[in-house]
Order: sequence, then structure tokens, then C-alpha cells
Amino acid sequence: MKIAFIYGSPKTKDSASASLLQELKPFLQQDGITISDYNFNKPLLNEEEMEQLKDYDALVFGFPLYVDGIPSHLLNCLTQLETFFASLNEKDIKVYSIVNCGFYEGHQNKLAMEMMENWCSKAGLKWGQGLGIGGGGMMTAIKNVPIGQGPKKSLEMPFRQLANNILNGASDENIFISPSIPRCLYKLASEMGWRKSTKANGLKTKDLSARK
Ligand SMILES: Cc1cc2nc3c(=O)[nH]c(=O)nc-3n(C[C@H](O)[C@H](O)[C@H](O)COP(=O)(O)O)c2cc1C
Repeated sequence: MKIAFIYGSPKTKDSASASLLQELKPFLQQDGITISDYNFNKPLLNEEEMEQLKDYDALVFGFPLYVDGIPSHLLNCLTQLETFFASLNEKDIKVYSIVNCGFYEGHQNKLAMEMMENWCSKAGLKWGQGLGIGGGGMMTAIKNVPIGQGPKKSLEMPFRQLANNILNGASDENIFISPSIPRCLYKLASEMGWRKSTKANGLKTKDLSARK
């Protein structure tokens, strides 16, 4: 079975989406499974990439939520792929997605997941399952914490379910989860992060609430 992992964050380092896809890999490691990585951190795909993608059994997207939707560079790639896939006669490709967001609540990713489902049907592909994850702001800071432990305790069952569905080519209900830490703690840590960023960029905390 051939699986393509598609990295949809524009970030080239410290991407929460990339870190989540990397953490899904061990759940898929079995004989006969090959996983290849594709970077969609650009607005256009080349012919070769599109030709290659038609030969996979499963496409697994990992991307951040931008303004309740799909980041524009990724949307552009999807539009290109939609035309390409829609022009093919024979295809049996399942699509899975992990969408993560800065807000605590995983269900914030619901609209973006519906956009992916709609894209699938327009491209003539089959929707497998989506996993919407909240608390993306802390994912790279805790990338060494194993799935199933501490703040990532709530991720274990959804990761297992998603991996089993990918391996079996199955479709299932989308899952939306929040991290295993209290919401107020996540908010506190995020605000500390914002203050640190303002300092690093030569600004003051009050600049966070500045209006033009
Ligand atoms: C332009 C932009 C728009 C965003 N919009 C949202 C949003 O609507 N809701 C949300 O919860 N997080 C939003 N975020 C936060 C990202 O989804 C979050 O930081 C995510 O973890 C980034 O993943 P990445 O590191 O893989 O890029 C936004 C971030 C950016 C840069």
C-alpha cells in the first residue's frame, strides 16, 4: 500500500502540522506500507508531483487552520489537483486529513474539514476521515512528548483509529479533539508566548492590542 503524506503548512520549520504527521507515522508502520512525503508549502504544484500523486492509495493531508478555512497556498494546490484528478477516469484514492488550529477546541476545524470533504467529491476522490486538533500552538513545544501521554493523552485513540482506517482503506466519522490540559492553562501559556514574541520583535505587550 502506498501512502502520501502532504505537508500543508507554509512553515519550513517548527510546524505543528508537520509534527503531527510525523507522529502518525509509527502508527502506520507495517510490512508492505510505504509512506512518501510531499511539501505543499507553495502555491503551485508541478506536473510530475500531480502525476505521482495519482498512484497512491491514500493521501494524508496535515495543515493548519487559517481564518476558519484552508490556507490560500494550499487551496491553490487543491484547485490545481482537483482539475487534474477530475480529468482521470480510473482512480481509487482515499483522502484523510489532520487539521490543527491555534484555538483550544478541536471543533474549530469543522468548517475546514467540510471544505476538504467537498474538495474530495469535486475531485472524484473518496473521503476517508478527518481529525481536527485544538491547541496547535503548543504542539512543537511538546513534540517530544509521546502520543498518549500528558497533554497528548487525548490524541492516542483518535490517532489509532485514523491509522487503522488508513491501513484498511476505510471511511469513518470525523473526530475533533482538544488537548489534555485545562483550557485556562493553555490560554495562559499562549499569552506568555505572545508576550515573548512581542519582545523578540522589539515590541511591547501593549502593542498586542494596538489598533490602526
Ligand atoms: C494567517 C493565520 C490564520 C489563522 N487562523 C486561525 C483560525 O481561524 N483559528 C484558529 O484556531 N487558529 C488560527 N491560526 C493559528 C494556526 O492554525 C495554528 O497556529 C497552527 O498550529 C499552525 O500550524 P503550523 O505550525 O503547522 O503552521 C491562524 C494562523 C495564521 C498564521
